[in-house]
Amino acid sequence: MSVIDPLADDVIHHLHTSDPPPSESQLAEMLSVTRARLARIFDELTELGYEFEIIRNGAVHIARAPDRMIDTEIVNGLRTRTFGRALHCYRQVGSTNVVAIELAESGAPEGTVVVAEEQTRGRGRLGRNWHSAPGLGIWSSVVLRPKIAPDAVTGISIVAALAFAETVDNHLGLDVQLKWPNDGLIDNRKVCGILVELSAEVGRLHYAVCGTGINVAHKETDFPPEIRPQATSLTIAAGRPVDRLAFYRRFLFDFEVLYQRFVRDGLAPLLPIYRARSILLGHTVTVSQGERHTTGMAEEIDEFGRLIIRSQGQRVALNSGEATLRTDT
Ligand code: BTN
Repeated sequence: MSVIDPLADDVIHHLHTSDPPPSESQLAEMLSVTRARLARIFDELTELGYEFEIIRNGAVHIARAPDRMIDTEIVNGLRTRTFGRALHCYRQVGSTNVVAIELAESGAPEGTVVVAEEQTRGRGRLGRNWHSAPGLGIWSSVVLRPKIAPDAVTGISIVAALAFAETVDNHLGLDVQLKWPNDGLIDNRKVCGILVELSAEVGRLHYAVCGTGINVAHKETDFPPEIRPQATSLTIAAGRPVDRLAFYRRFLFDFEVLYQRFVRDGLAPLLPIYRARSILLGHTVTVSQGERHTTGMAEEIDEFGRLIIRSQGQRVALNSGEATLRTDT
């Protein structure tokens, strides 16, 4: 929340955690600030969307916190051990992946998270843009430093997609299908995209940045016309507003749990739950990799996260690409 008085974070932190809640004069004393400065901080917080009320003995209580991706709110109730324990929140960035890569290059630890309300140059897979309008989604990236071979990195995006699906299931009771490698779909429309970028040398991964874009609060008309037919949001799918902060805290927790399991045991134990959500397996698909198109029966996801398809009698293992279901076969 660095855009306003630097002590605003501490005010919110004390109000969230002090028991019993402090009065204004106690708060001023705790933070060693004048009552006038504290009053200005409350004004700034009110502008951000907070609502306060005075309860018994003059104690200040947060009656309503804004649904904004700000650090004090994200950490309030966050149950992770490493994910989000170093947290960088922005109102606007080009791309959270780019910021996370810069942080990783300067030594940021595993689990460092970058979140933005808006991305002006959100990156999608295969060189595409990712539409990241302000306030509507969760645009975030996490720095990861697993001791795995660079070949195994596809597993990270599969794990992130799986975590997203589990969070939606547990939190909203909606069914998410996964389109290899890592698109999250509800009702056949894309609600979540994942982009993993890495720095490696032959045989050794330096770090990976896993960026996740989740459409949360969009109405149909919030999507640009060209992606409208294929896109959806959690709010559209649930038919009611979805709290971004609560969802995001839960996602970070689910992602950390699955990621730690993946680093410890590999992808194999997670594949049965991935397969159960896959829309491709058992169907004829075309996978495009630039100019190369491979069509065949999607048979398997292997322990490296590769899609195995049977094409012209051969088993072909694909590392990446854009898969489409064939409806004409
Ligand atoms: C896709 O094409 O499906 C992947 C989209 C990934 C978008 C997310 S939003 C947060 C992070 N920062 C980016 O620039 N991209 C990823």
